[in-house]
Amino acid sequence: MSKITVVGAGNVGATCANVLAYNEVADEIVMLDVKEGVSEGKAMDMMQTAQLLGFDSTVVGCTNDYAQTADSDIIIITSGIPRKPGMTREELIGVNAGIVRNVAESALKHSPNAILIVISNPMDTMTYLAYKSLGLPKNRIIGMGGALDSSRFKYYLSQALNCNANEVEGLVIGGHGDTTMIPLLRLATYKGVPVGSLLNSEKLTEIVQSTMVGGATLTGLLGTSAWYAPGAAGAYVAESILHNQRKQIPCSVALDGEYGESDICIGVPVILGKNGIEEIVKLALNSEEKELFAKSAAAVRATNAVLKEIKIL
Ligand code: 2OP
Repeated sequence: MSKITVVGAGNVGATCANVLAYNEVADEIVMLDVKEGVSEGKAMDMMQTAQLLGFDSTVVGCTNDYAQTADSDIIIITSGIPRKPGMTREELIGVNAGIVRNVAESALKHSPNAILIVISNPMDTMTYLAYKSLGLPKNRIIGMGGALDSSRFKYYLSQALNCNANEVEGLVIGGHGDTTMIPLLRLATYKGVPVGSLLNSEKLTEIVQSTMVGGATLTGLLGTSAWYAPGAAGAYVAESILHNQRKQIPCSVALDGEYGESDICIGVPVILGKNGIEEIVKLALNSEEKELFAKSAAAVRATNAVLKEIKIL
């Protein structure tokens, strides 16, 4: 029996669980939250869609009862506070670091072989915290930011091209931050044709800008962080792992010399299969992209340094 635990039944966690159930990614999906009754209620609500939507997965909710999450194949961490309009993801670190470390430790006690997917923000730093503090091999710790940012990149490209987003290729590497993400225009294509030959440079610059502040734009509109795409991105990453799909997805992973960086978790394309990270894909970046990546890594490192300042690492 396959089992996924989603820790945090807020907007992102519940959306993630809903997508996992609807797509029958696992036989059982357990949602856990600290708020009494919330995950139980959301799980029951989802189960009442099973007949309407025709899925066979079971969704279970529980209040802080980690025993119910036992023997999960994958643990998805969504806990913590979301952004408010005008806030950066980095500003959440003081509150979220303690929560993320705590819930990850509790969940792993009951599922010592699980693969961890981190959604909580600041995502690269929370992934790094998990990597440094939990003692798991690096193939089992994955931050989902690049999957989300790449989907937003494809959305903006498809809007500009007036085409189907599924027919666009594009990836975003670097940090999951408004100024740290790197949408790789040079490698973006529509049906194999480089987008640089289909759109003018003004439009291309606008697409990159919109992608980078994609989360902030939604926070401004919604008054809180987005959830549909972040939740779906977590489920997409989990599916490639649990179903051994070996999809190439940009994710925040621990680097050990790849892309010239070490002792950091940051977005690069990886092959995701039954062991979690099966392979880090080494793209041949040009000098401008390398420079952007080094800058992005420096910014992520500066946020990671706060973990030491607040004595969580
Ligand atoms: C976002 O970009 C919440 O970080 C997430 O929407």
